Amino acid sequence: MAAYYVCKNIFKYSSEIEYLLRQARAILELPELDMLSIGCGPCSDLFGALSFLDHNEQSDKEMRYLGVDLNPIWLPIQDYIGRDIGDGKEGIITAFKQEEFSTLVENLRFLGKPWTPNIVVLEYVFSDMFTFHYDIKGFVDRFAEFLFPLMPPKSFIMINDINHRDVRPYFSSLHSSLFKRSKQIHVSTWHFVNDFRWFYSYGTQHSQNYLTVTIPSDIRKRYNPWRSCSSAQMLIYKSDQ
Ligand SMILES: C[S@@+](CC[C@H](N)C(=O)[O-])C[C@H]1O[C@@H](n2cnc3c(N)ncnc32)[C@H](O)[C@@H]1O
Repeated sequence: MAAYYVCKNIFKYSSEIEYLLRQARAILELPELDMLSIGCGPCSDLFGALSFLDHNEQSDKEMRYLGVDLNPIWLPIQDYIGRDIGDGKEGIITAFKQEEFSTLVENLRFLGKPWTPNIVVLEYVFSDMFTFHYDIKGFVDRFAEFLFPLMPPKSFIMINDINHRDVRPYFSSLHSSLFKRSKQIHVSTWHFVNDFRWFYSYGTQHSQNYLTVTIPSDIRKRYNPWRSCSSAQMLIYKSDQ
């Protein structure tokens, strides 16, 4: 089931994050990336970030990536990622926590040391929470109370999810909750043309929706993966002024 999810979705999801990263070019000026993926699953966002850095000739940038997910189904994939690319050899160190985000947030650590992310990603997490009747309001409150104040100036929050009326309002509720705490935040919203059905216009339309990566032909034949982007997105920038 986890392997099928990866083969079906990862090319689309990682491409969508890469498009959003292109709208956050100041990331290229950050000396190091500390990326927290809440509900990381198989780390689609990590692959989007690596592709973005590669396309901008910054593949040697140092990155720490903490993936948090309460579901053990992803553990073999996360172990594989840790061994294959996250062992520090290429400047990328990965760590994973199999925990519920709200319990972890008060004592956020990376490999045992207190840690603050400068990029936080929520990719297809609000839709998952909605489906499983998770307490999204409680999650947003804890994000705003504990995580947001820790994030340094010049940091980013990226939300990428289905472009659906049941899900997009949670993007705004996170934004409003953060705005109550700090006026130093800037927000932009985005959507893609959907090749398969009518889509809602949410902020600016990306000029393209094609994938940023090439799908290996055996995976293309066997799993019929999604071949274009279609999500809605919000980018929140915490500035220093
Ligand atoms: C649809 S998957 C998305 C996985 C990944 N972000 C991606 O883009 O492929 C949603 C994930 O969020 C996780 N999740 C939902 N609520 C969570 C929470 N409160 N804390 C940690 N993980 C959570 C679920 O276990 C699931 O693996």
